[in-house]
Amino acid sequence: MRKITTIFHRAVLRIKNHGLIESIKYFPEFLIKSKKIDLDAINLKDNISLDNLCFIFGTDKAFLDRKKTFYKLNKDFKFKKKFPNYESWINERKFKLYKYELGLNYAKFYEKYFANLKYKKLKILEIGVAAGHSLAAWYKYFPKSQIYGIDIKDKTFLLYKGKRLRYDIIDCLDTKSIKKYCKKFGKFDLIIDDSFHDHPFFEMNIKNFFPYLNSGGIYFLEDFLDVDKKLKSIRQYNLKHKKKIMWGFDVTMHEKFSFFKKKKIFSDQIFTKKDLRYIYKYLKKVNVHYPGHPVSSLAAMIKK
Ligand SMILES: C[S@@+](CC[C@H](N)C(=O)[O-])C[C@H]1O[C@@H](n2cnc3c(N)ncnc32)[C@H](O)[C@@H]1O
Repeated sequence: MRKITTIFHRAVLRIKNHGLIESIKYFPEFLIKSKKIDLDAINLKDNISLDNLCFIFGTDKAFLDRKKTFYKLNKDFKFKKKFPNYESWINERKFKLYKYELGLNYAKFYEKYFANLKYKKLKILEIGVAAGHSLAAWYKYFPKSQIYGIDIKDKTFLLYKGKRLRYDIIDCLDTKSIKKYCKKFGKFDLIIDDSFHDHPFFEMNIKNFFPYLNSGGIYFLEDFLDVDKKLKSIRQYNLKHKKKIMWGFDVTMHEKFSFFKKKKIFSDQIFTKKDLRYIYKYLKKVNVHYPGHPVSSLAAMIKK
Protein backbone atom coordinates (compact mmCIF):
# COMPACT_ATOMS: atom_id res chain seq x y z
CA MET A 1 0.00 0.00 0.00
CA ARG A 2 2.84 2.36 1.00
CA LYS A 3 4.57 1.56 -2.32
CA ILE A 4 1.44 2.49 -4.34
CA THR A 5 1.04 5.75 -2.40
CA THR A 6 4.73 6.61 -2.99
CA ILE A 7 4.47 5.90 -6.75
CA PHE A 8 1.28 7.98 -6.92
CA HIS A 9 2.97 10.92 -5.16
CA ARG A 10 5.99 10.70 -7.44
CA ALA A 11 3.74 10.61 -10.53
CA VAL A 12 1.83 13.71 -9.37
CA LEU A 13 5.11 15.51 -8.62
CA ARG A 14 6.54 14.63 -12.06
CA ILE A 15 3.39 15.80 -13.89
CA LYS A 16 3.49 19.02 -11.88
CA ASN A 17 7.17 19.62 -12.65
CA HIS A 18 7.43 18.30 -16.24
CA GLY A 19 3.86 18.31 -17.64
CA LEU A 20 1.71 15.36 -18.71
CA ILE A 21 3.30 14.65 -22.13
CA GLU A 22 6.89 14.58 -20.79
CA SER A 23 5.75 12.40 -17.88
CA ILE A 24 4.16 9.87 -20.27
CA LYS A 25 7.39 9.82 -22.31
CA TYR A 26 9.35 9.15 -19.09
CA PHE A 27 7.19 6.12 -18.19
CA PRO A 28 9.27 3.44 -20.07
CA GLU A 29 12.46 4.80 -18.43
CA PHE A 30 10.70 4.66 -15.05
CA LEU A 31 9.85 0.98 -15.62
CA ILE A 32 13.50 0.20 -16.48
CA LYS A 33 14.67 2.11 -13.38
CA SER A 34 12.24 0.24 -11.12
CA LYS A 35 13.70 -3.10 -12.23
CA LYS A 36 16.28 -4.07 -9.64
CA ILE A 37 19.57 -5.86 -10.31
CA ASP A 38 19.34 -9.28 -8.69
CA LEU A 39 22.52 -9.78 -6.67
CA ASP A 40 21.82 -13.50 -6.27
CA ALA A 41 21.97 -13.88 -10.06
CA ILE A 42 25.41 -12.28 -10.38
CA ASN A 43 28.23 -14.83 -10.26
CA LEU A 44 31.60 -13.65 -9.06
CA LYS A 45 34.70 -15.49 -7.84
CA ASP A 46 34.64 -16.28 -4.13
CA ASN A 47 38.10 -14.91 -3.34
CA ILE A 48 37.65 -11.53 -5.03
CA SER A 49 39.06 -8.64 -2.97
CA LEU A 50 36.78 -6.05 -1.40
CA ASP A 51 38.47 -3.34 -3.46
CA ASN A 52 37.64 -5.24 -6.67
CA LEU A 53 34.04 -5.72 -5.56
CA CYS A 54 33.71 -2.03 -4.76
CA PHE A 55 35.23 -1.26 -8.16
CA ILE A 56 32.92 -3.65 -10.06
CA PHE A 57 29.76 -2.29 -8.46
CA GLY A 58 31.05 1.27 -8.56
CA THR A 59 31.18 2.68 -5.05
CA ASP A 60 33.79 5.33 -4.30
CA LYS A 61 35.01 3.10 -1.44
CA ALA A 62 37.32 1.54 -4.07
CA PHE A 63 40.66 2.94 -5.21
CA LEU A 64 39.02 3.69 -8.58
CA ASP A 65 35.45 4.95 -8.95
CA ARG A 66 33.84 2.99 -11.78
CA LYS A 67 30.31 4.38 -11.51
CA LYS A 68 31.51 7.86 -12.49
CA THR A 69 32.83 6.45 -15.79
CA PHE A 70 29.44 4.88 -16.52
CA TYR A 71 27.47 8.06 -15.87
CA LYS A 72 29.98 10.15 -17.84
CA LEU A 73 30.03 7.87 -20.90
CA ASN A 74 26.33 7.10 -20.74
CA LYS A 75 25.63 10.28 -22.69
CA ASP A 76 27.40 8.77 -25.71
CA PHE A 77 25.12 6.88 -28.14
CA LYS A 78 27.54 4.00 -28.86
CA PHE A 79 28.25 3.47 -25.16
CA LYS A 80 24.55 3.56 -24.35
CA LYS A 81 23.91 0.92 -27.02
CA LYS A 82 26.62 -1.35 -25.58
CA PHE A 83 25.59 -0.73 -21.95
CA PRO A 84 21.85 0.00 -21.94
CA ASN A 85 21.68 -0.26 -18.14
CA TYR A 86 23.91 -0.39 -15.08
CA GLU A 87 23.69 -4.19 -14.85
CA SER A 88 25.41 -4.54 -18.25
CA TRP A 89 28.19 -2.24 -16.94
CA ILE A 90 28.62 -4.45 -13.84
CA ASN A 91 29.00 -7.47 -16.10
CA GLU A 92 31.65 -5.81 -18.32
CA ARG A 93 35.05 -7.36 -17.60
CA LYS A 94 37.25 -5.48 -20.11
CA PHE A 95 38.22 -2.99 -17.41
CA LYS A 96 41.31 -1.74 -19.22
CA LEU A 97 39.26 -0.25 -22.06
CA TYR A 98 38.10 2.64 -19.86
CA LYS A 99 39.47 5.46 -17.76
CA TYR A 100 38.51 5.93 -14.12
CA GLU A 101 38.60 8.70 -11.59
CA LEU A 102 40.17 8.00 -8.20
CA GLY A 103 37.87 6.82 -5.45
CA LEU A 104 38.26 7.31 -1.70
CA ASN A 105 40.26 4.10 -1.25
CA TYR A 106 38.50 2.75 1.87
CA ALA A 107 38.10 -0.88 0.77
CA LYS A 108 41.63 -2.03 1.61
CA PHE A 109 41.26 -0.56 5.13
CA TYR A 110 37.89 -2.21 5.64
CA GLU A 111 39.29 -5.51 4.47
CA LYS A 112 41.84 -5.54 7.31
CA TYR A 113 38.91 -5.55 9.76
CA PHE A 114 36.77 -7.93 7.69
CA ALA A 115 39.21 -10.69 6.67
CA ASN A 116 38.31 -13.01 9.59
CA LEU A 117 34.62 -12.16 9.46
CA LYS A 118 33.97 -12.89 5.78
CA TYR A 119 32.19 -16.25 6.20
CA LYS A 120 30.40 -15.44 9.46
CA LYS A 121 26.68 -14.89 9.65
CA LEU A 122 26.66 -11.20 10.49
CA LYS A 123 24.15 -8.40 10.51
CA ILE A 124 25.60 -5.45 8.64
CA LEU A 125 23.98 -2.03 8.46
CA GLU A 126 24.96 0.83 6.17
CA ILE A 127 23.55 4.29 6.88
CA GLY A 128 23.48 6.20 3.57
CA VAL A 129 23.00 3.92 0.62
CA ALA A 130 22.37 6.08 -2.50
CA ALA A 131 22.02 3.65 -5.46
CA GLY A 132 23.25 0.76 -3.29
CA HIS A 133 26.64 0.11 -4.93
CA SER A 134 28.35 -0.38 -1.56
CA LEU A 135 25.48 -2.58 -0.30
CA ALA A 136 26.12 -4.76 -3.38
CA ALA A 137 29.82 -4.99 -2.51
CA TRP A 138 29.07 -5.97 1.13
CA TYR A 139 26.48 -8.50 -0.14
CA LYS A 140 29.02 -10.26 -2.33
CA TYR A 141 31.94 -9.99 0.12
CA PHE A 142 29.95 -11.47 3.03
CA PRO A 143 28.11 -14.44 1.45
CA LYS A 144 26.36 -15.51 4.67
CA SER A 145 25.50 -12.12 6.15
CA GLN A 146 22.29 -10.17 6.25
CA ILE A 147 22.78 -6.72 4.72
CA TYR A 148 20.65 -3.78 5.89
CA GLY A 149 20.62 -0.36 4.25
CA ILE A 150 18.87 2.82 5.31
CA ASP A 151 18.59 6.12 3.49
CA ILE A 152 16.28 9.11 3.41
CA LYS A 153 15.67 8.40 -0.30
CA ASP A 154 12.78 6.57 -1.87
CA LYS A 155 13.45 2.91 -2.80
CA THR A 156 13.31 3.66 -6.55
CA PHE A 157 16.85 5.09 -6.25
CA LEU A 158 18.12 1.69 -5.08
CA LEU A 159 19.39 -0.36 -8.04
CA TYR A 160 19.73 -3.76 -6.32
CA LYS A 161 17.78 -6.55 -4.70
CA GLY A 162 18.82 -9.79 -3.02
CA LYS A 163 17.47 -12.43 -0.64
CA ARG A 164 19.76 -11.20 2.15
CA LEU A 165 19.28 -7.50 1.43
CA ARG A 166 16.85 -5.20 3.19
CA TYR A 167 16.27 -1.51 2.54
CA ASP A 168 14.32 0.96 4.65
CA ILE A 169 13.65 4.67 4.33
CA ILE A 170 14.88 6.33 7.52
CA ASP A 171 15.95 9.89 8.16
CA CYS A 172 18.98 9.57 10.40
CA LEU A 173 18.06 12.80 12.15
CA ASP A 174 14.83 11.20 13.30
CA THR A 175 15.90 9.52 16.56
CA LYS A 176 12.43 8.10 17.23
CA SER A 177 12.31 6.19 13.91
CA ILE A 178 15.88 4.97 14.42
CA LYS A 179 15.02 3.56 17.86
CA LYS A 180 11.98 1.82 16.37
CA TYR A 181 14.05 0.44 13.49
CA CYS A 182 16.91 -0.76 15.71
CA LYS A 183 14.54 -2.36 18.21
CA LYS A 184 13.02 -4.29 15.29
CA PHE A 185 16.22 -5.28 13.43
CA GLY A 186 19.22 -4.62 15.75
CA LYS A 187 21.69 -5.43 17.10
CA PHE A 188 24.23 -5.24 14.29
CA ASP A 189 27.78 -6.58 14.02
CA LEU A 190 29.02 -3.90 11.67
CA ILE A 191 27.60 -0.43 11.17
CA ILE A 192 28.93 1.88 8.45
CA ASP A 193 27.96 5.54 8.41
CA ASP A 194 28.27 6.87 4.85
CA SER A 195 25.32 9.27 5.09
CA PHE A 196 25.47 13.05 5.31
CA HIS A 197 29.10 13.93 5.89
CA ASP A 198 28.75 16.77 8.36
CA HIS A 199 27.86 17.70 11.94
CA PRO A 200 25.51 16.88 13.63
CA PHE A 201 25.09 13.67 11.56
CA PHE A 202 28.49 12.28 12.61
CA GLU A 203 27.71 12.60 16.32
CA MET A 204 24.00 11.79 16.15
CA ASN A 205 24.62 8.56 14.26
CA ILE A 206 27.25 7.46 16.79
CA LYS A 207 24.93 8.40 19.66
CA ASN A 208 21.91 6.62 18.14
CA PHE A 209 23.51 3.54 16.61
CA PHE A 210 26.49 2.65 18.84
CA PRO A 211 24.14 1.18 21.51
CA TYR A 212 22.77 -1.14 18.80
CA LEU A 213 26.16 -2.63 17.99
CA ASN A 214 26.85 -6.17 19.20
CA SER A 215 29.69 -6.87 21.57
CA GLY A 216 32.86 -7.15 19.47
CA GLY A 217 31.14 -5.21 16.68
CA ILE A 218 32.64 -2.28 14.79
CA TYR A 219 31.12 1.12 14.03
CA PHE A 220 32.69 2.92 11.05
CA LEU A 221 32.44 6.59 10.19
CA GLU A 222 33.53 7.78 6.75
CA ASP A 223 34.39 11.17 5.28
CA PHE A 224 34.93 13.64 8.09
CA LEU A 225 38.27 15.03 6.87
CA ASP A 226 36.76 17.61 4.52
CA VAL A 227 34.63 19.13 7.29
CA ASP A 228 37.55 18.92 9.76
CA LYS A 229 39.80 20.84 7.35
CA LYS A 230 37.16 23.52 6.86
CA LEU A 231 36.61 23.85 10.61
CA LYS A 232 40.35 24.19 11.26
CA SER A 233 40.67 27.00 8.74
CA ILE A 234 37.64 28.82 10.23
CA ARG A 235 39.19 28.47 13.69
CA GLN A 236 42.42 29.99 12.41
CA TYR A 237 40.50 32.90 10.88
CA ASN A 238 38.65 33.42 14.19
CA LEU A 239 41.93 33.35 16.09
CA LYS A 240 43.38 36.02 13.82
CA HIS A 241 40.42 38.22 14.75
CA LYS A 242 40.56 37.21 18.42
CA LYS A 243 37.14 35.58 18.16
CA LYS A 244 35.76 32.14 19.00
CA ILE A 245 33.26 30.04 17.06
CA MET A 246 30.18 30.73 19.16
CA TRP A 247 27.31 28.65 17.84
CA GLY A 248 28.76 26.21 15.33
CA PHE A 249 30.66 22.97 15.86
CA ASP A 250 34.13 23.91 17.08
CA VAL A 251 35.82 20.53 17.67
CA THR A 252 36.97 18.40 14.73
CA MET A 253 36.01 14.73 14.49
CA HIS A 254 39.71 13.87 14.60
CA GLU A 255 39.92 15.67 17.97
CA LYS A 256 36.74 13.96 19.20
CA PHE A 257 38.20 10.56 18.30
CA SER A 258 41.40 11.50 20.19
CA PHE A 259 39.21 12.27 23.25
CA PHE A 260 37.47 8.92 22.72
CA LYS A 261 40.86 7.19 22.75
CA LYS A 262 41.72 8.83 26.08
CA LYS A 263 38.14 8.39 27.35
CA LYS A 264 38.06 12.08 28.10
CA ILE A 265 34.77 13.75 29.01
CA PHE A 266 34.41 16.91 26.92
CA SER A 267 31.61 19.37 26.32
CA ASP A 268 29.76 18.80 23.07
CA GLN A 269 26.62 19.99 21.29
CA ILE A 270 25.35 16.42 20.73
CA PHE A 271 27.06 14.04 23.17
CA THR A 272 25.96 14.61 26.74
CA LYS A 273 28.28 13.53 29.57
CA LYS A 274 25.99 10.53 30.01
CA ASP A 275 26.39 9.60 26.32
CA LEU A 276 30.16 9.83 26.59
CA ARG A 277 30.22 7.70 29.76
CA TYR A 278 28.10 5.08 27.97
CA ILE A 279 30.39 5.10 24.91
CA TYR A 280 33.53 4.81 27.06
CA LYS A 281 32.09 1.97 29.10
CA TYR A 282 31.69 -0.14 25.96
CA LEU A 283 34.42 1.21 23.71
CA LYS A 284 37.39 -1.10 23.35
CA LYS A 285 39.42 0.79 20.75
CA VAL A 286 39.26 3.60 18.19
CA ASN A 287 41.38 3.69 15.05
CA VAL A 288 41.46 6.59 12.62
CA HIS A 289 42.70 6.04 9.06
CA TYR A 290 43.56 8.49 6.32
CA PRO A 291 43.74 6.42 3.13
CA GLY A 292 45.59 9.02 1.09
CA HIS A 293 42.90 10.72 -0.99
CA PRO A 294 42.77 14.41 0.09
CA VAL A 295 39.27 14.07 1.58
CA SER A 296 39.15 10.45 2.67
CA SER A 297 39.00 9.54 6.35
CA LEU A 298 37.73 6.48 8.16
CA ALA A 299 37.25 5.89 11.88
CA ALA A 300 36.62 2.46 13.36
CA MET A 301 35.11 2.22 16.87
CA ILE A 302 35.43 -1.34 18.20
CA LYS A 303 32.98 -2.35 20.90
CA LYS A 304 34.04 -4.44 23.92
C1 LIG B 1 27.64 9.22 -0.13
S1 LIG B 1 25.99 8.70 -0.41
C2 LIG B 1 26.08 6.98 -0.02
C3 LIG B 1 26.97 6.21 -0.96
C4 LIG B 1 26.93 4.71 -0.81
N1 LIG B 1 27.16 4.29 0.54
C5 LIG B 1 27.99 4.10 -1.71
O1 LIG B 1 29.12 3.88 -1.23
O2 LIG B 1 27.71 3.85 -2.88
C6 LIG B 1 25.19 9.42 0.93
C7 LIG B 1 23.75 9.04 1.11
O3 LIG B 1 23.33 9.56 2.38
C8 LIG B 1 21.95 9.83 2.29
N2 LIG B 1 21.48 10.75 3.32
C9 LIG B 1 21.64 12.09 3.38
N3 LIG B 1 20.98 12.59 4.42
C10 LIG B 1 20.40 11.55 5.05
C11 LIG B 1 19.56 11.44 6.20
N4 LIG B 1 19.19 12.51 6.89
N5 LIG B 1 19.14 10.21 6.57
C12 LIG B 1 19.50 9.13 5.86
N6 LIG B 1 20.29 9.17 4.76
C13 LIG B 1 20.72 10.37 4.36
C14 LIG B 1 21.80 10.43 0.89
O4 LIG B 1 20.45 10.32 0.47
C15 LIG B 1 22.79 9.63 0.07
O5 LIG B 1 22.14 8.61 -0.63
